[in-house]
Amino acid sequence: MIYFDNAATTFPKPLSVKNAVDTAFLYYGANPGRSGHDLAAQTGKKVYEVRVKVAEFFGAQNEEQVVFTQNCTYALNTVIKGLLRPGDHVITSDMEHNSVMRPLYSLQSKGITYSCAVTSYDDEKTVHAFRCLIRENTRAIIVMHGSNVFGVKLPIEKLAKLARQYGLYFIVDAAQTAGTEPIDVTNMGIDFLCTAGHKGLYGPTGTGLMITSCGKYLSPLVEGGTGSASKELAQPRFMPDCFESGTINTFGIIGLGAGLDFIKQRGMKNIARYESTVARCLYDHICNEKKVVLYTPRPEYGVNLPVLSFNIQGLTSEETTARLNKAGFALRGGLHCAPTAHKKFKTDHIGTARVSVGAFNTVEQAKKLAHSICKIAHSVK
Ligand code: ALA
Repeated sequence: MIYFDNAATTFPKPLSVKNAVDTAFLYYGANPGRSGHDLAAQTGKKVYEVRVKVAEFFGAQNEEQVVFTQNCTYALNTVIKGLLRPGDHVITSDMEHNSVMRPLYSLQSKGITYSCAVTSYDDEKTVHAFRCLIRENTRAIIVMHGSNVFGVKLPIEKLAKLARQYGLYFIVDAAQTAGTEPIDVTNMGIDFLCTAGHKGLYGPTGTGLMITSCGKYLSPLVEGGTGSASKELAQPRFMPDCFESGTINTFGIIGLGAGLDFIKQRGMKNIARYESTVARCLYDHICNEKKVVLYTPRPEYGVNLPVLSFNIQGLTSEETTARLNKAGFALRGGLHCAPTAHKKFKTDHIGTARVSVGAFNTVEQAKKLAHSICKIAHSVK
């Protein structure tokens, strides 16, 4: 099976990640921050080291700004539900994933409203669309850094500037960009960064991150044992404990640390450039095929993400991915949990077949996939 579903989760993971998890299973199996024995302390030290690595990687001022979560959705819910109060208004984009849209939709019952800015390939137009939606009660801008379906990147630095200018919190969903796009929360003015640990950061599934210098403005989504201030019935308010109730995913976090090392060794730019080359090869081999409808522009390093969305005329996206599955390729079809984005691209009735490239894909694999896509397209009456 040739795997092209890296936007869902990267696979395979680097061997070093597997080895780090194996080592954790053997030597760091205690519960960090709970017991006083050596094994708990050693496990706690390993988790702390990853916290430091994450802080450095994303330009946080210190490791206490790093909260381990189980995925990006959990991190986004922590921020959205912890920050917004009745009467607040937020602005988001028309490309968002349900991890943002569903919390915003449900918060309407609590008197919180939202508007979706129309995004465009022209950054100035996008920023203008956000600016036009700012109201007196607008409290935050929340945007994805890059689309999981169409590979479009949003101008987060310019939007951060806009948010700063109007005194709004700036929240970024970097699920699809962390690990391939440079992100520095301090220099970019990101108040809350939410991301997955298991995609471009190459950690195991079950890992996610919330990074913030504004933790004191959030109420925790979950309360419980933190291993700290245990006498108090009230949830500790300090970071990161406030947002890490219950036993954390030690093995996953240690694996995530190895994922970050992998990126550093290969170089983030090298990975991004390489993935773009593979995606472009696929694009070039299918773009002239009559029955193939492409929704994404030609992948270019630094411009868009190595994600291609397409359909074969006469087939639904799921039929296409099912046929490709039979031919030995793993792709995702359907709406990719992003119906808002599909509405924008007018693909909400059939979805799209999506190819998402990772660091372990090759140009040869892209050519093989292109061959199969064209073969299926020719077979459709
Ligand atoms: N959000 C992930 C995807 O796009 C799971 O497939």
